[in-house]
Amino acid sequence: MKTSFSIEEAVKKRYSVRNYSDREIEIEKRKDIETFIETLENPFGNKISFHYLGGDGMNDQQKLGTYGVIKGAKQYIGTTIKLEDMALEALGYEFETMILYLAHLGIGTCWLGGTFDRKGFAEAMNIEGDELFPVISPYGYAAAKKHIKEMAMRKVIKADKRKDWNELFFKGDLESPLTEEYAGELAFPLEMVRLGPSASNKQPWRIVLDDKAVHFYEDREPGYSDRFPYDIQRVDMGIAAAHFDLSVKEKGIPGHFDTKADPEIKLPENMEYVFSWIKE
Ligand SMILES: Cc1cc2nc3c(=O)[nH]c(=O)nc-3n(C[C@H](O)[C@H](O)[C@H](O)COP(=O)(O)O)c2cc1C
Repeated sequence: MKTSFSIEEAVKKRYSVRNYSDREIEIEKRKDIETFIETLENPFGNKISFHYLGGDGMNDQQKLGTYGVIKGAKQYIGTTIKLEDMALEALGYEFETMILYLAHLGIGTCWLGGTFDRKGFAEAMNIEGDELFPVISPYGYAAAKKHIKEMAMRKVIKADKRKDWNELFFKGDLESPLTEEYAGELAFPLEMVRLGPSASNKQPWRIVLDDKAVHFYEDREPGYSDRFPYDIQRVDMGIAAAHFDLSVKEKGIPGHFDTKADPEIKLPENMEYVFSWIKE
């Protein structure tokens, strides 16, 4: 989808906010957020359901655990999906687009895929049935300072660092590094992918540029998703799709996503083809 705010500014402004201030989000902004969420769409076509929790629903806040990771948050947004092909990527795409919009409004968020009491939040958000409930995010204005546990977490996961181009982006195969010069007009969307958030900051996205196609692979961390009934790093792949797509749309570079353009190239162990973007 095409957005009305600067992608680069939002990508650079966004970081995980784990300590929130008391400042309420203005009514107008709340309305804008809900309207924006209603317009969300994704290139894979899966349906993502959004669930809000805040205000009165937060009377039970004591019971809603984030294992001390999130402090001061008064509202949350969660998402549910049917577990089908590309659903986790579609969720990553829409949720991250929302998060960038909130960053643009000056509102903090934090992707939570692991450190939240899934059962407690599902009850508080009235989530029923057999849909999967993979992620939530608190949202609100950031407190002036990070809390101690937050600072410690950021240090352990090296949250302020990102892998270099030569570890992420390749030309023709998964061995030959891609230079920014060779990437040309695609250097900007790739750089926006590189700066994105990912679960435990593992940055599993690997990208191969091949003539007019940009192929996205997941460098899956063995065992990482064993505690979930799905591969949470697929959500990271959806985040990469969002950053890439919002960037090419902003720059007016035409193209489309294709989930069946898997090229015949040699894949290292634990590397999986996920989708491609084809320039028109
Ligand atoms: C799919 C996904 C799941 C995440 N789950 C958690 C989580 O459970 N708890 C948490 O504190 N941070 C979580 N994060 C936040 C990442 O740790 C964070 O994005 C990364 O370390 C980079 O830091 P930054 O967001 O400040 O740039 C998650 C991020 C993503 C994309």
